[in-house]
Amino acid sequence: MRIGILGSGGLGTALAARWTAAGHDVLTSGRDPRRTGHGFADAAAHGTDALLLAVPDHAALAVLDAVGAGGGALAGRTVIDCTVPLVPGTLTLSTAGGPPMAARIAAAAPGAHVVKAFTFAPAAVWTGGPPVFDGDPLGVPLCGDDPGALATVGRLVADLGAAPVPGGGLERAALAEAASAFMIGLWAAGADARTVLPRADAEAARPTLGRR
Ligand SMILES: NC(=O)c1ccc[n+]([C@@H]2O[C@H](COP(=O)([O-])OP(=O)(O)OC[C@H]3O[C@@H](n4cnc5c(N)ncnc54)[C@H](OP(=O)(O)O)[C@@H]3O)[C@@H](O)[C@H]2O)c1
Repeated sequence: MRIGILGSGGLGTALAARWTAAGHDVLTSGRDPRRTGHGFADAAAHGTDALLLAVPDHAALAVLDAVGAGGGALAGRTVIDCTVPLVPGTLTLSTAGGPPMAARIAAAAPGAHVVKAFTFAPAAVWTGGPPVFDGDPLGVPLCGDDPGALATVGRLVADLGAAPVPGGGLERAALAEAASAFMIGLWAAGADARTVLPRADAEAARPTLGRR
C-alpha cells in the first residue's frame, strides 16, 4: 500500500519503519522538510491508500488545513487518527466539554474516511519485536464508519503482527480517547493496565449490556 505519515515523532516513525519492513511504500513527513526530507503535502499526496495523522492534537487541524483537507483534498481517503488529546503535562483531555478529536478531524477533512486507532499502546511497542504479550498479539481497537477504510487499517494492523479489534463506529472514538487517557494514567502511576481487565473467556467477563 501507499502510506503517507503526517508527523515524524515516536509513533509515526515507529509505524513507518514497521510498514516499510512489511513491504509497504511509506513516505514520512514533518513540519521541517529539511529534517524529514518531505513536507506534509508530500505525504498527503503519497498516501493514496492510507494517511496516518501522527502529530499532537493541538496541531492536527492546522496540519489538515495545510494539506487542503478542508477543500476536499482527502475526500475518499483513509485517514488514521492516532491522537490522544491530553493537555501537555497532564492527564486531562484537551477536548473536554467539546467533540472528540476524531470528530474534529472528520469535520476538518470532508469526505475522508477517518479511523481511530493506535491510541492504547506507547510507540515503543512498535519498535521491538512482534507485539505479543502473554502469548497473544496486541489488540488494536479500530473505530470508524467506512467498511473499506476499516478493512485497510485492519490489514495494516495485521502487518504489524498485531490484531485488529472492531471498536464500533467513529462516534465511539470519544470513548477510545478517554479510555486511552485513563490507561496512560494507570501506566504513569506504575500500574500494569493489562491486569485491570478480565480475559474475554472468563465467566466474569460476560457482557451484561441490556441487563439490569
Ligand atoms: N508517542 C506515543 O507513544 C503515542 C502513542 C499513542 C498515540 N500517540 C499520539 O500520536 C500522535 C503523535 O505522537 P508522537 O509521540 O509520535 O509525536 P508528537 O511529539 O506528538 O508529534 C511529532 C510530530 O508532530 C510535529 N509537530 C509538533 N507540533 C507541531 C505543530 N504545532 N505543527 C505542526 N507539526 C507539529 C513534529 O514536528 P517537529 O519534529 O518539527 O517538532 C513531529 O513531526 C500524538 O497525537 C499522540 O497523542 C502517541
